[in-house]
Amino acid sequence: MTFSKTKAYELSFKQLQNLLKTEDNWITKMSTINCVLKTNFPYYFWVGFYLVSEPQKLIVGPYQGTLGCLHIDFGKGVCGASAKTRETQLVEDVHAFPGHIACDSASNSEIVVPVFDPQKNLIAVFDVDSTEKASFNETDKIWLEKILVHFFERSEIRNLNF
Ligand code: SME
Repeated sequence: MTFSKTKAYELSFKQLQNLLKTEDNWITKMSTINCVLKTNFPYYFWVGFYLVSEPQKLIVGPYQGTLGCLHIDFGKGVCGASAKTRETQLVEDVHAFPGHIACDSASNSEIVVPVFDPQKNLIAVFDVDSTEKASFNETDKIWLEKILVHFFERSEIRNLNF
């Protein structure tokens, strides 16, 4: 049977709704989203969140995959571009993207989606990398935006209090 992105996103969204029904913690939500999506999508090579740590700066948060860069400035690479513009970046060939940060040379295409809290503050960007070129398209964009809006922008969230 051929792989259907739409079916895999529908299934992932249902699984996440069940799993996260009573969860309001950022880190718990982010870790669970990474795991469910990486399990359901064969082309997800690296998946994770970069958190807004201080103005104009990102630090690596929960992720699954090979070692990610620890710090990224707004405006640098694909994640930095998404943080700066507050818009999704869909990149068919990362090597052609100006200023692309190669954390792992195996990555060839990428999507980065901004993550907002209910006040529309940018709290993170969500990054998915694939080893194939042009793995991501409008279907990934629509569904990932829907998932991230649902679990962060339209729901109660709180940060960890250590
Ligand atoms: N490729 C990203 C950097 C993060 S990692 O690949 C995990 C970028 O250019 O934003």
